[in-house]
Amino acid sequence: MCGIVGYIGVRQAQPVLFSCLKRLEYRGYDSCGIAVAGSRIEICKDAVRVAALEKSAPQLAGATGIGHTRWATHGAPSLINAHPHPDCSGKIVVVHNGIINNYQSLRKQLTAEGHQFISETDTEVIPHLVEKYYRGDLEKAVEATLKEIDGSYAIIVLAANESKLIVARRGGPLIIGVGDGENFIASDVPAVLDYTNRVIYLEDDDMGVITADSVKVKRDGVEVSRKEDKILWSMEDAQKGGYEHFMLKEIHEQPKVIRDTLIGWVSLSEEEFDLASMCGGIESMLILACGTSYHAALVGKYIMEEFLSIPIRVELASEFNYYAQALAKTGAIVITQSGETADTLKAMKKLKSVGCRVLAITNVLGSSASRIADHTIYTRAGPEISVAATKSFVAQLMVLYWLAVSYSRVDARRLADMIIQIKQLPEKVQQVLDNEDKIIESARYLSKFENVFFIGRGINYPLALEGALKLKEISYIHAEGYAAGELKHGPFALLCEKTPVIAIVAKDSTYDAMLSSIKEVKARGSPVIVLTEEGDEAVEELVDTVITLPQVDPVLSPVVNAVALQLLAYYVARKRGCPIDFPRNLAKSVTVE
Ligand code: G6P
Repeated sequence: MCGIVGYIGVRQAQPVLFSCLKRLEYRGYDSCGIAVAGSRIEICKDAVRVAALEKSAPQLAGATGIGHTRWATHGAPSLINAHPHPDCSGKIVVVHNGIINNYQSLRKQLTAEGHQFISETDTEVIPHLVEKYYRGDLEKAVEATLKEIDGSYAIIVLAANESKLIVARRGGPLIIGVGDGENFIASDVPAVLDYTNRVIYLEDDDMGVITADSVKVKRDGVEVSRKEDKILWSMEDAQKGGYEHFMLKEIHEQPKVIRDTLIGWVSLSEEEFDLASMCGGIESMLILACGTSYHAALVGKYIMEEFLSIPIRVELASEFNYYAQALAKTGAIVITQSGETADTLKAMKKLKSVGCRVLAITNVLGSSASRIADHTIYTRAGPEISVAATKSFVAQLMVLYWLAVSYSRVDARRLADMIIQIKQLPEKVQQVLDNEDKIIESARYLSKFENVFFIGRGINYPLALEGALKLKEISYIHAEGYAAGELKHGPFALLCEKTPVIAIVAKDSTYDAMLSSIKEVKARGSPVIVLTEEGDEAVEELVDTVITLPQVDPVLSPVVNAVALQLLAYYVARKRGCPIDFPRNLAKSVTVE
């Protein structure tokens, strides 16, 4: 995910571009850049945040320009890979949000034709293609370029001596902010709200020609009309896409995150990533992580032990660093959303020092974890702003399912069924999101308590830990996650009508034991809320409050349960008036031990 902006009008473009870009940093911020057309096109870019580039940039004179803030997908965050990207002559410059699938073959072909590439990005083929087709008509050159590229994009093309900007979109958002004698282009509305509240939303396959006084939109070469909307939201609302908090927005992005991470599998297999050789025959595996990523690692243990039939050891990186032995022949996986958690990085170095091969699962391209690891698999969650991890957790689970399925030793029928069910997960998660009434009702009830237990068994025991973590970090209610069978070895002393218990039930081998645990808890007077799949009559007869979730294979139940538990924590915290996105004393990325 990246943010793109464009300006054409009467003002100096540079300050406008920087101010617009700052509003888009939620879409990515590992590097940024601008290009301004004056007597010639000048580019200023670097692997820094927008405010830093704004401070260090020389003054580029001109009233037309484009800008970009990057969330790297192809090529690490660096000055060379930052946008805008020029053609050979420096007269055609492009910013791009999206992924060009066929960039490798295009790059090969263009190189053979004499074009020189300097970045590792997929984007760079676009200015070179425009250059190839440019015969004095920029519009035609862009049209020809779009016919060649396969993938998702929102682009803005700036060319020397042309008093227009060309835009196009397919699968990437793009809006035009309409002004008087000036026009703005951006990935999202907040970027332009300081200047105008008149907005045109472009549709997929639209191509636009934007001058200071006009907006012309074409599809398949034929001009079409697009209506202008008036924006009535505040800036903050707009950045959160209309959601009250980033956390809620990020929870709702999960069907897309699952889809995007599934698409990631394809590109991964193209690289012929081989877990078996990477991890030395994988007869055992060590998974290390912290926080929510540690809970994903615990789920990973259940998934991989079932599908790979090998013993998996899971350790907290912070503990592993001080006592545990790293065995040279063990394959190791580290899971870290940010790729910067100090304890996790330290553990990686310890593993490498004894000769372990390390696979990192991270959400941030070019992060420290990806640089230390022998191989990296990227989750496709996009930037996560809220401190409480939500979509990154589900994306990590998706990668673990992928690894398990790819190296599976289960029979072909079970495997085929699993693949079908994994592909259905975006819809199942959407169903959880569309049916949140019962969750909101339970959240209202829970918000009055000061202590809550979460219980689960088997693959959903880590979900009890994660449910409790989510609740305590954003609502400040004391919550503990427990393996259901362990409750009777101490915590029973705390059970009473003031201590509700959330029980996560799955229709697997733990089902009967979970029902027994629920009965034992009820007998001690605790209110019980159960998460289970729809149509579970035995549970409905047993307790008053049941949050029903769509049916999925029990191995996949952590995904739907995670989403329900995130919503539960969110609505409890909202009811209690907590600062949900930025809870006290916590940080998104913990770069100290
Ligand atoms: C912090 C964050 C958590 C995260 C943990 C591990 O505590 O607040 O949400 O789970 O770090 O972070 P990582 O980036 O390594 O997954």
